[in-house]
Amino acid sequence: MPANLVVGAQWGDEGKAKVIDVMSKDTDIIVRYQGGANAGHTVVVKGKKYIFHLIPSGIIYDNKICVIGNGVVIDPTYFLEEVASLDKEGFDVASRTYISDSAHLLLPFHKMIDAAREGSASKSQKIGTTKRGIGICYADKMMRTGIRVGDLHSQASTKEKLNAILNEKNHELKVLYGLEELKFQDIWDEMYTFYDKWKHRIINTSYYLNEELKEGKRILLEGAQGTGLDADFGTYPFVTSSNPTTGGALIGSGVGYHFLEKVIGISKAYITRVGEGPFPTELLDEEGERLRKLGGEYGSTTGRPRRCGWFDVELLKHAVRVNGMNALALTKIDVLSDYDTIPVAVGYELDGKRLDYFPSQGLERVKPIYKEFPGWKSDICGINDFKKLPKNCQDYITALRGLVGVPVHMISTGPDRDHTIILSM
Ligand code: IMP
Repeated sequence: MPANLVVGAQWGDEGKAKVIDVMSKDTDIIVRYQGGANAGHTVVVKGKKYIFHLIPSGIIYDNKICVIGNGVVIDPTYFLEEVASLDKEGFDVASRTYISDSAHLLLPFHKMIDAAREGSASKSQKIGTTKRGIGICYADKMMRTGIRVGDLHSQASTKEKLNAILNEKNHELKVLYGLEELKFQDIWDEMYTFYDKWKHRIINTSYYLNEELKEGKRILLEGAQGTGLDADFGTYPFVTSSNPTTGGALIGSGVGYHFLEKVIGISKAYITRVGEGPFPTELLDEEGERLRKLGGEYGSTTGRPRRCGWFDVELLKHAVRVNGMNALALTKIDVLSDYDTIPVAVGYELDGKRLDYFPSQGLERVKPIYKEFPGWKSDICGINDFKKLPKNCQDYITALRGLVGVPVHMISTGPDRDHTIILSM
């Protein structure tokens, strides 16, 4: 049976969680494959809002298995807090969640150094991170000094590793940032509290997932962030420190590529971005404020106001290319209902020349070429039949499908699970 993948096609916050939630219904296992508690996945069911940071949103269904893959970085304290709050809501997380033995632990010094670096960086060097320690933890992974969840099975050698890394980190905290040193015992207790509660759920998730696929189970790979934030294909250095794109999904889950069937790229009908970095279609005037208000565009992890702008076809075509996207899900189309006309950037000009791809350098100098589409000026929130959408709205979606070049698989017309149109165009 296949594995399907949900990947962000813009700069994150595209509404992936809603699409994942709708698709989870026909799935057996939902897998988070990268990122950490920097993500904020919002799902609304019958008017009730749930925000997930580390646990896959599939936990909402009571018969699904959730997996935290090897590519995720886990903040143990944050994880336990999220589990406790979900338990309070009546979800039995522990009996339906597995954690990869190869996922890395994100520890207090990662968060402190992330915050200190951001705090001391000059304006042009700031990334605008979530300060959740993500980049520092992935750096340690690549430096081969990180501690993996499965390491905790062997206490003596993990204590030795923690001791070595803490010596380095304390030096950095004290000498570079003038901060207080951390105590070995405090960090060990934090790690071990997590391990003690979860040791029975730590497995080789790559083995487990591939065996389940062979047995006929259906798997959904849940991406965090988006293509524009990918460490390789995003707007480096204004990116996250993992690969949300398809390659990262395979690496971060250990699922064999031959199982992959549908790669669904999620995109808002406009664009938002949080943090620093170039954004060609950004609306810097009151139009941006208007879109932010209409779309309720404030970060679900940090509460920061999101930067807002018009749909960008070149960014989407880039996402189609690097992800091998074969379907598109368009979200928050209802937010555009108030506009007389809707501009779409259908191409770029760089230094006076037409550019027909999303450039790796010089994006801050790119000038979008806009085409205006007539608005529909009526409330479409909750419509779940394409034919019931106003003609101009149907035309807008059909035009985007043509410009981006992949079929539209799903349209979200409102926040709730039921406010969804499923189709293949
Ligand atoms: P980090 O992932 O916290 O290191 O932040 C790096 C960049 O990615 C910053 O611009 C963040 O605002 C952005 N970012 C990280 N996670 C998300 C997310 O879930 N949605 C949108 N942007 C994100």
